[in-house]
Amino acid sequence: MSSNKKEKILVTSALPYANGPIHLGHLAGAYLPADIFVRYHRLKKNDIIYICGSDEHGVPITLRAEQEGIKPQEVADKYHDMNKLSFEKAGISFDNFSKTTLSIHYETSTEFFRDIYEKDLLIKKGETQLYCEKDKMFLADRFVEGVCPKCGNLGARGDQCEKCGKWLDPTTLKEPKCKLCGSTPVQRSTEHWYIQLGRFQKQLEEWILNKKDWKDNVLNFCKGWFDQGLEDRAVTRDLDWGIPVPLEEAEGKVLYVWFDAPIGYISSTKEWAGNIGEPDKWKDYWCDQETKLYHFIGKDNIVFHAIFFPVILMAKGGYILPDNVVANEFLNLESRKFSTSQNFAVWLNDYLSEFPPDPLRYCLASISPETKDSDFSWKDFQARNNNELADVLGNFINRTLVFAFKNFDGKVPEPERLSDEDISILTSADNLLDDIEDNLVKFRVRQGIGNFMEIARRANKYFNDCEPWVTLKNDRQKCANTVYTSLQIVKKLALGMAPFMPFSYEKLVGMINLEDEFRSNSWDELKSEMIPAGSELNKPGILFSKIEDETINKELEKLKLASPVDSDANESQDQKTEKEKLDEITIDDFKKIDLRIAEIKSASPVPKTEKLLRLEVDDGDDIRFIISGIADKYTAGDLIGKKIVVIANLKPAKIRGEISNGMLLAAVTDEDDLALVIADKDMKPGTRIS
Ligand code: 2FM
Ligand code: ZN
Repeated sequence: MSSNKKEKILVTSALPYANGPIHLGHLAGAYLPADIFVRYHRLKKNDIIYICGSDEHGVPITLRAEQEGIKPQEVADKYHDMNKLSFEKAGISFDNFSKTTLSIHYETSTEFFRDIYEKDLLIKKGETQLYCEKDKMFLADRFVEGVCPKCGNLGARGDQCEKCGKWLDPTTLKEPKCKLCGSTPVQRSTEHWYIQLGRFQKQLEEWILNKKDWKDNVLNFCKGWFDQGLEDRAVTRDLDWGIPVPLEEAEGKVLYVWFDAPIGYISSTKEWAGNIGEPDKWKDYWCDQETKLYHFIGKDNIVFHAIFFPVILMAKGGYILPDNVVANEFLNLESRKFSTSQNFAVWLNDYLSEFPPDPLRYCLASISPETKDSDFSWKDFQARNNNELADVLGNFINRTLVFAFKNFDGKVPEPERLSDEDISILTSADNLLDDIEDNLVKFRVRQGIGNFMEIARRANKYFNDCEPWVTLKNDRQKCANTVYTSLQIVKKLALGMAPFMPFSYEKLVGMINLEDEFRSNSWDELKSEMIPAGSELNKPGILFSKIEDETINKELEKLKLASPVDSDANESQDQKTEKEKLDEITIDDFKKIDLRIAEIKSASPVPKTEKLLRLEVDDGDDIRFIISGIADKYTAGDLIGKKIVVIANLKPAKIRGEISNGMLLAAVTDEDDLALVIADKDMKPGTRIS
């Protein structure tokens, strides 16, 4: 484990779009595992830097600006600041967190484009692209949605289908619709510059073939693309927001966001080098074959990091390629997908305003979606915090320190002839620390944190078995040995804790009075050196507090999981047929109802029910799900694309275990015939009915 050769490592985490706050799914995928990896390597005294920043270009920013009625730069500034702060508070320890609207990034991206262009690796192609006549713009990337040509997913975005992962060209979408106004775009001619990925396929394949340690998900994706044959991809767009293409003949065009964003890793490193007063130092990392480059990303970004960016780097020349692309699977929330548009998420800034960061880091590391999707649930979070952090780890540390204070004057007692039991627990902690190392270097955070908690579990058992409260009275030296040994384990726990829970680690190192040692010594030194007998300890404090049910229920309510009226008994909750005369209402009463046009995007039967359909509808602001008892009257084919009327501000209801967010309007007869209320003209989703 203790090799002396220092490694040079460059770690990046996907630049998050500055179009909204970070949620726990993001944190678990691309940031927390990278931060744990980086913190470990810093303790190993390797030469490592951790680079990130906000991705401030691309359609996601423009769409958000439209929604919020502000300028794209204002959107980017707002969420950049918000996310930077949330990352800091969560202990994500970037060496630099930049942004892609800085001039250093414009210069770097422009230089890449020019250089590749001058090498004749970009070709200009005349083509037709989707154009919205209402909005008077080309519909690049996420400005358009439609049916995925590969898997049939209805809500595929113009750039990528989230369901099957296919990287799309908007013109290949079936039934395309403008994301801004809902109308069907026309084809209009334009021209763009393409990078010929196919010319690099052989080189890429040879490079990737040697990557025996890459995760299967990444290798399988790459193999799939190679089998299909790599096609040319446009690196320019007809958009207002982005880095202008540095060619006279490309007036009004900008660089494709996926061309400039990964170059953001380089410009962020340049910014870092400038900040530390060594402006050329970025080259030590990016241009030295000795450097190991690791990209931590979510699985939706694989193609860009394993194919597209490596091609850009190969085309430019003189840069290293990633040693590994660490792509994590997705995290779900309470068994459902995180959904920004439906506000079904736990936002990191919200979490941090209620709870300390370390329990979240612990929980997310324990369920890290490394090989398959995993699930965050508030109850599981509470259980891990209370039963593991508080009852096992915190308990062992606290009882050891309190005992030492009470009975040994707050000092490390003098050991004498340690028993086999004492030696065995020390060895076992060291072995588990080695396991943590072995797992972390292989990006297995989940197993690493398991090894860490195992130290605490065994230590607790050791303390119980030794019964120092008994030996205190009848064999004081044995008691001193137990406390000495337990304190050494506390130090080892501090070391093991450092990458995972940096805030608790700081506190703990303070309690055992080893700040200086931990600041200067390496992992290997800290692991092998015992705290000398006689060393003074500081007063212990509580590291982890329990979380009450009430607190967790509040969080569940925020997700609307605890509060909805449970309408299990009533399948047709949204189609009451009562005809009794209702009380008169005023226009103000009526105005309280948010009635609006919504477009049905998909419809699928609710399992184990006869009548219920789960409708995915676009209400103009969001995609929402409505459970409706119309399966015996309508098929998915009848419904998709229909503009119906929904009550958008109805309290969510639980129907047969499914949350229904709103209700659709339908006329229902006594004979159980049913007709949906549909606008008699093509109306944009979101149009209010008044
Ligand atoms: O998917 C995303 O959120 C992108 N903004 C990730 C960019 S990663 C990198 F290439 F910059
Ligand atoms: Zn439009």
